[in-house]
Amino acid sequence: MNLSRSTFANLRRRKNISKAELPQTSFFLRLMEERDLPFVMKIERLSFSHPWLESTFNGEINNRGISFPFVVVHRHQEKIIGYIIFWLMGEKAQISNFAIHPDFRRLGVGEEVLTRITAQIRKYGAKSIILEVRPSNFAARRLYGKYGFKSLGIRKAYYRDPEEDALVMIKYFSPS
Ligand SMILES: CC(C)(COP(=O)(O)OP(=O)(O)OC[C@H]1O[C@@H](n2cnc3c(N)ncnc32)[C@H](O)[C@@H]1OP(=O)(O)O)[C@@H](O)C(=O)NCCC(=O)NCCS
Repeated sequence: MNLSRSTFANLRRRKNISKAELPQTSFFLRLMEERDLPFVMKIERLSFSHPWLESTFNGEINNRGISFPFVVVHRHQEKIIGYIIFWLMGEKAQISNFAIHPDFRRLGVGEEVLTRITAQIRKYGAKSIILEVRPSNFAARRLYGKYGFKSLGIRKAYYRDPEEDALVMIKYFSPS
């Protein structure tokens, strides 16, 4: 079955199911492999004005001690619709890259990916997650804010093309 973005929306309307319920059963996460890179690069270029190089993703794949790169795979179409990479350094975790294919945005996928990854990071023993985001990236800031990330500070002139400061955000885990 070819589940396009509009099919997702129609299903949601017809069955009156919440946004979060549909995507949970429609995709899964698995570790990124080199064969995924053409698809990952396509999403990267569609998502960022200063995209990572393929060699950078390759470095993440081969840095298994610290880096945890995951792809988001559409269960029915068996295609990659996003990715998320986090680094784990003792009790500190950092989300270093995160994107959902434009055709699959605003369906709750990004939020669900963040939920699953956060649970995993927590299980590994991290006490906080940090990330950087462009202040102009309203969608991502709203998502992180909704998810309990708070502003920690600014890194001046961190981004290029166009140049922009980075807003550093952090989420602390409450003791369980
Ligand atoms: C940021 C991103 C990952 C969000 O993914 P997504 O699957 O579209 O997000 P969701 O559908 O799960 O949205 C979850 C929440 O994020 C916020 N949000 C997401 N997109 C938004 C938009 N375009 N405008 C406003 N808020 C938005 C909302 O709070 C939303 O909750 P709501 O639908 O209840 O209002 C996606 O927009 C993306 O890939 N952007 C380009 C790459 C990027 O900016 N990555 C982050 C770098 S720090």
